Amino acid sequence: MNKISKLAVLTSGGDAPGMNPCIRSVVRTAIYNNLNVVGIRRGYQGLIEDDMFDMHARSVSNILNLGGTILKTARCLPFRTDEGMEIAYQNLKKQGVDALVVIGGDGTFTGALRFSKKYPDIAVMGVPGTIDNDLYGSTYTLGFDTATNTVIEAIDKIRDTADAHDRLFFIEVMGRDSGAIALRAGISCGAEAILLPEKATAIDDLIKNLKTGENNKKSSSIVIVAEGDKNGGAYDIAQKVQKEVKFYDVKVTILGHLQRGGSPSAFDRILGSRLGYAAVNALIKGESQMMVGLEANHIKLTTLEEALNQHEFKLEEDLMEMAEILSI
Ligand code: F6P
Repeated sequence: MNKISKLAVLTSGGDAPGMNPCIRSVVRTAIYNNLNVVGIRRGYQGLIEDDMFDMHARSVSNILNLGGTILKTARCLPFRTDEGMEIAYQNLKKQGVDALVVIGGDGTFTGALRFSKKYPDIAVMGVPGTIDNDLYGSTYTLGFDTATNTVIEAIDKIRDTADAHDRLFFIEVMGRDSGAIALRAGISCGAEAILLPEKATAIDDLIKNLKTGENNKKSSSIVIVAEGDKNGGAYDIAQKVQKEVKFYDVKVTILGHLQRGGSPSAFDRILGSRLGYAAVNALIKGESQMMVGLEANHIKLTTLEEALNQHEFKLEEDLMEMAEILSI
């Protein structure tokens, strides 16, 4: 087992609330274990551009409450090339870095795994950080809880005005190919329907459902559309439904990037702290090419390979069924 002495940390892909508590935890756990730490700015982009700086306990003071990431982030195409990876590797060697913590989603892990197979002398540990909650090996990813709470707050407000005007709202939420935010937010806000990439909903069935709601004296209706739903975006779906549902005035809201910002929830602060701590400790024990995750409230290591290959994230069938039953 190679003993590590200098660790680098980066955030990559879409930012997620909870990344800052995780960075703080990585830095302070490393210092506690007498390791040197460098921060890399803008993910793999900074690695290629040699944009690194020494971090100390005070570099991460008062960041637990901040959304975004103090290290900044990017989606970096050059890191997908052999040339880009070689430059990144040489920059890490120049800095004397022998271990790397990458906080991000599946794109970040794909890059980390390829890099680590090419250059196994640098140990790599992944931390799941994405609002999409779509990684195998962790029940929750950093940022999902905060984003879901943000969505709930927004939908509650929309419900007020929808109810005042007897309107039907289509609200599109983020998640890429995952309906995790849509499902949780739909249950929490009592949405009349939730359109998910994981479960096909025919527009005719949706219309029938909304008509039943009207017959049951619902004054307003909310349909949550996950951005990955196969029927198209909220605007397209609203247009199709509007022709058939004359009893409601139809409106559309795309929540967009506001879902990614904001102060991390208690859950994400604790999750970030736990995962950062676990990532450094796993590297110290000699682990590499792994992701630290949380399952049944315990830290679990999953190989990056498995986290990526088992990517087909399964949304809970029982929650989908319950959401339908409770929305009558
Ligand atoms: O992966 C996080 C996420 O917010 C997705 O939910 C969304 O599809 C995507 O990133 C948006 O990416 P960008 O900020 O690059 O437009």
